[in-house]
Amino acid sequence: MSAHQGFTLWFTGLSGAGKSTLSEALEREFRRRNFRVEVLDGDIVRTHLSKGLGFSKEDRDTNVLRIGFVCSLLARNGVISVSAAISPYADIRAQCRQMTEESGTAFVEVYMNAPLEVVAARDVKGLYKRAMAGEIPQFTGVSDPYEAPENPEVIVDSGQEGIEASTQKVLAYLEERGLISA
Ligand code: ADX
Repeated sequence: MSAHQGFTLWFTGLSGAGKSTLSEALEREFRRRNFRVEVLDGDIVRTHLSKGLGFSKEDRDTNVLRIGFVCSLLARNGVISVSAAISPYADIRAQCRQMTEESGTAFVEVYMNAPLEVVAARDVKGLYKRAMAGEIPQFTGVSDPYEAPENPEVIVDSGQEGIEASTQKVLAYLEERGLISA
């Protein structure tokens, strides 16, 4: 039996909440275990697959559905597909879940729960300062909505937990679900 199944690990949360960092840490751990994994990071997808798209609701929905579609294709071929995009709208995340489950694979939603005050204070990319000054329109959490998931499979309190604890939390969930072996 393979040491893992194909499934989608779907991160959602504000910019700067730690989606990329945690998905990279998990990618390293999966590779260390010789698992097949692919990460679709919002920032990177937007330079290729979603090049030219902006941040209107329509463009975000298109971006997120594209990521969901690619994840479902990879997952049904036995790959652990990891999405790290804000994916702010609950209905679109639900569509991604449905598309994935209809193709016969699991969809595991991980909510990177970090308060706006925390990500704005950290402001790793310097974007919150500009958004709050009105220089970036439609900025998620500042001047554009973020709909937190109501029933995510995993919640990571990224403002409080360290990266190692968060990594272990996700791995433990996946093992419990039987999606990966210990
Ligand atoms: S999503 O809404 O379509 O899921 P995605 O994750 O691909 O967003 O891209 C978010 C990244 O784009 C942020 O981390 C940030 O670096 C950058 N960005 C630029 N403009 C915006 C904006 N208006 N709102 C949110 N993020 C933005």
